Amino acid sequence: MNHTQKSAKSILFVCLMAALAGLLFGIDTGVIAQAKEYIAKDLSLTDAQISIIVSALLGGAAFGALSAGFLTRNFGRKKSLISSSFLFCIGAIGCILANDASILIISRVLLGLAIGVASFTAPLYLSEIAPKNIRGTMITLYQLMITIGILVAFLSNWGVVSLTHSQENPEGIIDMATSWRCMMGMPLIPAAIFFFGSLLIPESPRWLVSVGKEAEAKTVLQKIRASEQESIAELTEITETVKNSVRINGLSYFINNKFFRKTVILGMLLQLSQQLTGINVIMYYGPEIIRSTGFDSDFAVNIGTVLIGLTNVLATFIAIYFVDKWGRKPILMLGYVLMAISLVLVAIFMNLQMGYAAIAFVLIFVISFAFSAGPLIWVLCSEVQPLQGRDFGITCSTGANWLSNMVISGSVLAALASFGSVVVMCFLAACCIVSLIGVYFFCPETKGVSLEYIEKRLMAGIPLRKLGELK
Ligand code: BGC
Repeated sequence: MNHTQKSAKSILFVCLMAALAGLLFGIDTGVIAQAKEYIAKDLSLTDAQISIIVSALLGGAAFGALSAGFLTRNFGRKKSLISSSFLFCIGAIGCILANDASILIISRVLLGLAIGVASFTAPLYLSEIAPKNIRGTMITLYQLMITIGILVAFLSNWGVVSLTHSQENPEGIIDMATSWRCMMGMPLIPAAIFFFGSLLIPESPRWLVSVGKEAEAKTVLQKIRASEQESIAELTEITETVKNSVRINGLSYFINNKFFRKTVILGMLLQLSQQLTGINVIMYYGPEIIRSTGFDSDFAVNIGTVLIGLTNVLATFIAIYFVDKWGRKPILMLGYVLMAISLVLVAIFMNLQMGYAAIAFVLIFVISFAFSAGPLIWVLCSEVQPLQGRDFGITCSTGANWLSNMVISGSVLAALASFGSVVVMCFLAACCIVSLIGVYFFCPETKGVSLEYIEKRLMAGIPLRKLGELK
């Protein structure tokens, strides 16, 4: 095997390991949908306790994301990924052993912390380690793993439900108590692989240079770049950027540097715009939405949920294929337009009781999200921040993702009950249009340019939307 093949192999391994973080993010997002019903029955929990168990993970994730900047900056990307994988294992074991609500809540907070740290660190690590011509594709791979994780969770839940003994399923061989523990414990398998895999990945060369370990950075780059020439050029570029930037605290950088403030705010608004599409209303309450379109049998609900998960996975390939060809902006803008249209049509068809048409537009909405805002917001957020404040910047944007997810998912049921689906869907559609306009005017196209080039232009006072333009 020559050096080019070897380096391609190592970069693939590294990226797959980091992308496993995405898989766990997805699995832990998906498992609770069906498990919560069994947990409630088995442990005789109230609705309030169940909603705490559900949102414990989102709260933990927001906190994890907010502390991840500190961890990655001070201890490195690799150690942060290792700690997150460890927390994933502990959280899953806690869920399996839990015999009351409080242990479950603590375990879900731990899982949330793991997801928060991972959802911050993995895209950051990928953006720093991937060669620039495939950087977008690599980070999109991370999103693909999130969607596969959600699908795996939906499928494994379905499998476990079909093995569970109940009045409707007298042939079932496991009881309810075992059933929800299987659902919640399943993520332990990928978590263990992630843990052992993350012990083997290299540290990010950008972080190594930023803490003065050039020699180690050089060794890593030699391993993961196709030629000596490429690795030297990249090391020089990184070293120059680091030399020109004094190591300062992210918050004071934010307060003192108006250019950095712009990218931090851009990242947070982009993540808010991703959540304001309402994607997680469908991911968390898919079964309820399917029932409300008139398909009431358990079988229809299971098929419908898996179909949503599968569509989400498949459409992500569109982004993987086109992100480094067409660029981020055109795909993102197309996605927002299609999401706005499909949200309005879902509402109309739901009201006309036209179940098939409503479901079709739910799927078109999921496709539009999965090829655009789903992956591309993570891609952009990890690309636009200058090195010196990258940790702080991505901390803020990832924190914004989880906090807005928590607020939107937590309030949407009440909003649907008070205002009805038409108003809620039209509100989300209007948010998509506002996001479309925002992306057009304020978002840079980052396709094919190095992170250092983007940073140089940002600090030269070039407007955000022009940061990635080649002179
Ligand atoms: C979002 C998650 C969402 C997932 C669905 C991600 O990009 O951040 O909130 O559940 O996509 O695929």
